[in-house]
Amino acid sequence: MIEHLIPRRRDFDGADLIFTMNAAAQSAAANGRQVINTAMGALLDDDGRFVALSSVMSQYAQLTPAEIAPYAPIAGDPRYLLALTQRHWPELTSYGAGVATPGGTGALAFSLRNLLEPGMRVLTASPYWGPYDVLTSENGMRLATAPYPSIDGTLDIATWRTRAMEILRTQGRLLVWLNDPCHNPTGRSLSTGNRRALLELLREMSDHGPVSLVLDFAYLDYAREPARVREALDDYRAVGEAGRILVGACLSLSKAFTLYGARAGALVFPWVTDPSMFAALSTSCRGTYSNCARAPMHVLLRLIADPAQRKALESEHAHWRRVLAERADALDSALKREGFAGAPWDGGFFVTVPATNPRATSERLAQADVFVVPVPEGLRIGICGLRASDAAKVASTIRSVVDGVVHPVA
Ligand SMILES: Cc1ncc(COP(=O)(O)O)c(C=O)c1O
Repeated sequence: MIEHLIPRRRDFDGADLIFTMNAAAQSAAANGRQVINTAMGALLDDDGRFVALSSVMSQYAQLTPAEIAPYAPIAGDPRYLLALTQRHWPELTSYGAGVATPGGTGALAFSLRNLLEPGMRVLTASPYWGPYDVLTSENGMRLATAPYPSIDGTLDIATWRTRAMEILRTQGRLLVWLNDPCHNPTGRSLSTGNRRALLELLREMSDHGPVSLVLDFAYLDYAREPARVREALDDYRAVGEAGRILVGACLSLSKAFTLYGARAGALVFPWVTDPSMFAALSTSCRGTYSNCARAPMHVLLRLIADPAQRKALESEHAHWRRVLAERADALDSALKREGFAGAPWDGGFFVTVPATNPRATSERLAQADVFVVPVPEGLRIGICGLRASDAAKVASTIRSVVDGVVHPVA
């Protein structure tokens, strides 16, 4: 019945690389193999069990029918939107213009639909989270990239300038998606100097047309140094307040609350007061999914209303930050022992190890029961699912594969 499918929708392979790798790892494990599965972006404990934060789940368990079953307002509960915004900027008393979205993914999609015309390009740093490709193509748009700073911290600001200028010249407006701090897939955050250089560039660019900066915040609760996250958020707030650049944020409870499946997020423009922005965003909600799930909104509202639960959540985050730092450091050292450059980590669930032929390398690693996701620049390793004690095996297996030694399958 292929003729029922419109021609331009017939040639997808339909598989998501990350979920495919994860399924392959799970099937190898079900066959009794000792797999190391670092493919998914979900937090696992050292026994490989899925982590659901207790402070969050205890609130979920207490939800009443009225907090679960009725439709939520189309744009989301305003108290939820404010609470989610204040998790990032506690001093704000308004979320400006904003709507609830199914996770940060929904927020990214709405930023495209409301800030660009079909056929236009959004600029982001490369490497980037793989679904950015499909998010743009599904919205009839394209991705343009400029390099993420190199490991030694050098930012190629000249390329950023050229790309931004060229986009402004051809389409008259610029939208930048910036996944910072705690970047997926590098696991790094922009240094203060690089962040300020980029923001200054965007300010310059705003002389040439409307410039929007949409911040994709997925992993901020899992930074090695929370004070650096605070500094970054304060810088972004200053740019938003200044008003020349439209600053928005894609917010999500997926990683923050380990509520990946609840699909709770928001797109907010905290420094926008023009009602037309809110009207446009809520029209996107109605025309896409009507409204988001009510239950996770109430989980957040319950949590913030109870100081003891807030404290419990903060200590769970502190615990997992420590675990992730230990895993990242173990991997960094193991890679260095194998003669690689290592994998510095500032935050988030991943690091990326440079590799010349990432896809072939990841396939050979999978044959040796180490599952990583290839990205154009290398191998993305989910430290969220990696035991520190497995780091040496990951590094030595990468070494064997890179050297062309066939690694025996256990
Ligand atoms: C960089 C980045 N942005 C956004 C998301 C969106 O996640 P969600 O839609 O579950 O909030 C993810 C999830 O993996 C991510 O890694």
